Order: sequence, then structure tokens, then C-alpha cells
Amino acid sequence: MIETNKNIYINNISIKSIFSKFSLPIYIYDYKKILKNLYLIKKTKIFCFYSIKSNNNKFLLKLVSKIIKNFDVVSIEEINNIIYINKKKKYIIFSGSGKTISEILISINLNIFSINVESVQELFKIFFFCNKYKKNINLMIRLNPNIDSLSHDKITTGKINNKFGINISNIKHFLLLINIMNFNFIGYDFHIGSQISKLSPIKKLFKIIKIINKYKKVNFVDIGGGKSINYYENKICINFNNYYLSIIKMIKKYNFNFKLIIELGRFFFGNTCIILSKVNYLKFNKILKIAILNVGMNDIIRPSLYNSYHKIESNNIGYKIKNIFGPICESSDKYNNINSFKINNNNLVIIYSCGSYCKVMSSNYNSKKKIFDIIIYKNKIKIIFKKEKFNNLINNYV
Ligand code: LLP
Repeated sequence: MIETNKNIYINNISIKSIFSKFSLPIYIYDYKKILKNLYLIKKTKIFCFYSIKSNNNKFLLKLVSKIIKNFDVVSIEEINNIIYINKKKKYIIFSGSGKTISEILISINLNIFSINVESVQELFKIFFFCNKYKKNINLMIRLNPNIDSLSHDKITTGKINNKFGINISNIKHFLLLINIMNFNFIGYDFHIGSQISKLSPIKKLFKIIKIINKYKKVNFVDIGGGKSINYYENKICINFNNYYLSIIKMIKKYNFNFKLIIELGRFFFGNTCIILSKVNYLKFNKILKIAILNVGMNDIIRPSLYNSYHKIESNNIGYKIKNIFGPICESSDKYNNINSFKINNNNLVIIYSCGSYCKVMSSNYNSKKKIFDIIIYKNKIKIIFKKEKFNNLINNYV
């Protein structure tokens, strides 16, 4: 019997009624929270491209395409997703340091908004295919400004030791090449990292933009994504509106007249989704008290990959335990909760902030099948991803 004394509601649906209908673990999205985020972004009037890599669920992409309409992609499969949800004019930015020839060809043929080029070799490939097919394409150059985003080392992308972008010291030569090749050069692109919670790296970035803007003025400056979300209850990061208001003020201060582009990912869905799971086992020895959940690094890899914190909550009845693990056969399949809390066998457990970089990074490790995604949608439950089917030969033997 699953126990919970907590009656948590998502858009008037109690989580109790969810576990009685679906197998656990399960991703549960909150439609209201999603709409709130979409309209918050739209209200800023900043030219925003949704970074599909953070969550590519088709139902959610359709929602985005109704309100934001522009997408930042890093693969041919992501372009395919956009074509699937939106047959009209495609506003796509193609980012990424390892574009394939077919990805370059498709981008040229679709006449996307921009390819953000990251190396000299990539530039030559684009030039070759544009010439071959007598087409031109909008280009932005992604620059590596050697700025620390002051977030997590593994999600920092704008430092000199990162693989991303063209070293800022090579910019003059690069601009010369672009000029000779006669591309539609439209802007500079920077994405210095993810989960940025301080404005100081962005201030440094604007000082650099001031210098390079003298070499060549551009129509667009793309500062990428990176706006942080709250994973912790007591470490609240900078508010969305204040963050972008400060950036708009910087643009005014420097008298820039380019149009700002942002490529947000995590902010869209990060805090709109929980995983509902349950405790499968408790285990005590002399040193450790352990709880083993039925959700692990195959469904949510962020804790083991980056030591990321996701708030975990249960009904607070039972044994005081700090060490919470998943069921996967790896010692690193562990959650990083800060305090111990009371937990017991079969308790329901909620893992918060699972809407971005969770399902998209999930795997079939240990041959586990991907789990259901549901959305609580106008007081109803809608399945937006069906649990993968398991070719069940075992039943013949039970
Ligand atoms: N633009 C570019 C070029 C990017 O590489 C990314 C994310 C974004 C935009 C969106 O950034 P966001 O607004 O989501 O921070 N798996 C990691 C995050 C990796 C971010 C990769 N690039 C995590 O779970 O924290």
C-alpha cells in the first residue's frame, strides 16, 4: 500500500488520484505554471528562441510554438521536431559546435533565421555548400569571450578552455573571411553558460560587446540562454524581470542599436514539473541509513552527473534518513538532498524542478523503459508521453 498524508494538488488534481491511475515513477507537468512562464517571456518583448534541447516533448513544443514561435536547435532531429509541430515559416537558430554536413545543407535549404558558426572549418563548409547550391544564408558568429558564467563548471561554456565558439582574439580575421565570402552576416552570438544567477558575467560580456561593436556593427546580438531557476528553497536566484530589465538597461547605457536575442531553455519548463515516485526499500547499517527510490539516474541524471540538487519531499513520517538513492546499479545513482527527513517504505516521494534537462537526458540504462509524462491541464490529466512498451515475454513464465 502506498502511503501519503500529504494532499498535494496540482491544478485541483490531488497527487493521490494520480498514483491510483498511473504506475510510478511519473513526470507531472503543471499547465498553469507553463503558461505563466510563456507569457512572462512574451511580455518582455525580447526576441526569444526556445532552446529545444532542454525539453523536446511534442505537446510542450506545440504550446511554445503558439506563444513564442522561435526555436534554437542543435541537431537535424530538433529541426524535424519543429517541422512536425509547425509547418509555417520556421524561425530557427542553428547552434552547436559539431554541425554535420546534412545539418548545414538542411539549414541552407530551409533558409533558417541564422546558422551560428563556431569555427573556421565550419565556415568553409557552409561557404562550399552555399556556392554549390547558389544560395546564401544568414550567419552569426559564436564568440568565446573567456568569461566565467559563475555557475557550475560542467555547464560553463564561455571560458577559454571550453570547446565552444571562436576565440575573441581571432575576431578581426574571422570578420575578414566572412566579408570575403559575402555572407549575410547578421550578428554576434555568445552563450556563456547555463543556470547563471549573477549579473556580473553579463556585465563583463557587455564591456566586450562594446569593443567588438566598433569592429563591425551588427543587427543582432544573441546572448544565448542561461537564466537560472530556483532549485533551492532558501537560495532564491535573481528574478526573471529584474535580470532582463538590467540587461535592457545595459543596452541603453552603451547606446547599442542592435536587437537583442536570447535562447532560453531551462526557464521555460524547469520549475513546472515534478517526478512522483515511491520508496522501494530502506536499508540500515552501522554507518548509513539508506532509502532506495523507484526512480533513478536513468530518468533523472542531473544529480549523478553534476551533483545537482533537486528538492525531495515525502510525508515526513518514519525514519530520519539523508541518503536517498535510485534503483540503478551504480553507486553514483544518488540524490543530493541537504537535510535528513523522515521517510518510510512505500511512501510517495516528490522530486521537484524536473521539467528541463531531465526527460531529454534520460536513458534506457539497465534496460529500463522511459516513463509516462502527464500534464495537469484545466483540471484534467492528459498523457503527453506514453511509457515505452516492454516486449513482455516474462508473463509466459509467471
Ligand atoms: N543556447 C545554447 C547555445 C546552449 O548551449 C544552451 C544550453 C541554451 C541556449 C539554453 O540554456 P538554458 O537557458 O537552458 O540555460 N544539461 C545541463 C544544461 C546544459 C545546457 C546546454 N546548453 C543541466 O542539466 O543543467
